[in-house]
Amino acid sequence: MAERFRVVGGSALRGEVQVWGAKNSALKLMAAALLAVGRTRLTNVPAILDVTIMAELLRRLGCTVDYDAAAGVVEIDVPEQIGHRADYDLVRALRASTAVLGPLVARTGSADVAIPGGDAIGSRGLDLHAAGLEALGAQVHVTHGFLVAEAPSGLDGADIRLEFPSVGATENVLTAAVLARGTTRLENAAREPEIVDIAAMLSSMGARITGAGTSVIEIEGVEALAPTEHAVVADRIAAGTWAFAAVATRGDVEVVGGVPEHLAAALELVRASGAEVVTTARGFRVDSGGRRPLAFDVATLPYPGFPTDLQPFALAANAVADGSAMITENLFEARFRTVQELNRLGAETRIDGHHVMVHGVERLSGAPVEASDIRAGAALVIAGLVADGVTTVSGAQHIDRGYAGFAEAMQGLGADVTREPDDVPFV
Ligand code: EPU
Repeated sequence: MAERFRVVGGSALRGEVQVWGAKNSALKLMAAALLAVGRTRLTNVPAILDVTIMAELLRRLGCTVDYDAAAGVVEIDVPEQIGHRADYDLVRALRASTAVLGPLVARTGSADVAIPGGDAIGSRGLDLHAAGLEALGAQVHVTHGFLVAEAPSGLDGADIRLEFPSVGATENVLTAAVLARGTTRLENAAREPEIVDIAAMLSSMGARITGAGTSVIEIEGVEALAPTEHAVVADRIAAGTWAFAAVATRGDVEVVGGVPEHLAAALELVRASGAEVVTTARGFRVDSGGRRPLAFDVATLPYPGFPTDLQPFALAANAVADGSAMITENLFEARFRTVQELNRLGAETRIDGHHVMVHGVERLSGAPVEASDIRAGAALVIAGLVADGVTTVSGAQHIDRGYAGFAEAMQGLGADVTREPDDVPFV
């Protein structure tokens, strides 16, 4: 049954909120577990649907997977013989399924991974993933909707330069190169904390990796890897979500488990909005002092730049800020769906290509809106908090994919946010 969030506007978020392990790391670490025969244990795993889907994908490849969502633990038992196919039904449900590409080619010499279509934020090709694997000696082709990569006699280390520091392509090259013969030098690699996290887990499995977190990663291939135990890095996007939620609602929120060093660019803009940011023993705190935010410009960039995943929250905060702001999206071509929905709530915006001008208004005005993806959905709930009356955000399942217990976390901060059935007439 479809559900939506019901948001009653008016409350400033106050109190503390916990962030767990990063979705975008946990899913990749689960895929990387395929590289070693035996039982790998991941902790601090978020309780979200995407983890359930990745667990199902690993089971179909022959693994035994135990997921204790309440404890945040995933245990993956990888047998000697594993499959090499990720079907369209799973890839369609979870784009991050493509993270099995590197581990499967490295382990089995072959991977057939269904190609995801475009989605609500852009076209998101796999060309850089394919080029990286080809450089390592795999034969890559597309057939019947699958990307097929084959390296029956194994992979060979190579010098690779990514055209763009793609997160997913960096991960697939890394997880393939760890078992390749010889050394791989990956230039223009993505530098996200999730890359550092996967490199740390691979190293604890016996991989030889240097430079993760910088633009040049060197990987010396090894014969085999061993299973491990690893705690997932904190979710910087969830942490940033709460930071901007505090700004937009004129609140005061301690983000427990948040790592401020992973959010330097975002927290600089939180400060530019007039809020105070302090590091605490357990994370960090954003205190707006009860003041209306000042408008702040944003341009998304690969890490350590401002994350595209936080762009919808910067939009929501600027929609009620004092002044006008220019938001520039440099990573995904279609990531402005939030804008039309914010306009339904009375935001004053103008889109021009990959820029949006936002002129802040004192308050938004509650209305039914629709979430197009995880971040857009969460940003609309926050917008609902600074709107008069009731806002409903349809597509609750999108938000559930990125945030464990979102309504409960909001309630813990004093907000009137609940879930309700969403009967869609005429469909
Ligand atoms: N790109 C290509 N070809 C490729 C790979 C990427 O053209 O082969 C383009 C994409 O189309 C996009 C840009 O490069 O325009 C960036 O893509 P990237 O590969 O860096 O992103 P991703 O690995 O697909 C991850 C996160 C996203 C996050 C981006 C950017 C996961 C599962 N997803 O995606 O997170 O927005 O990095 O930081 O790790 C989310 O959590 O809601 C989310 C969308």
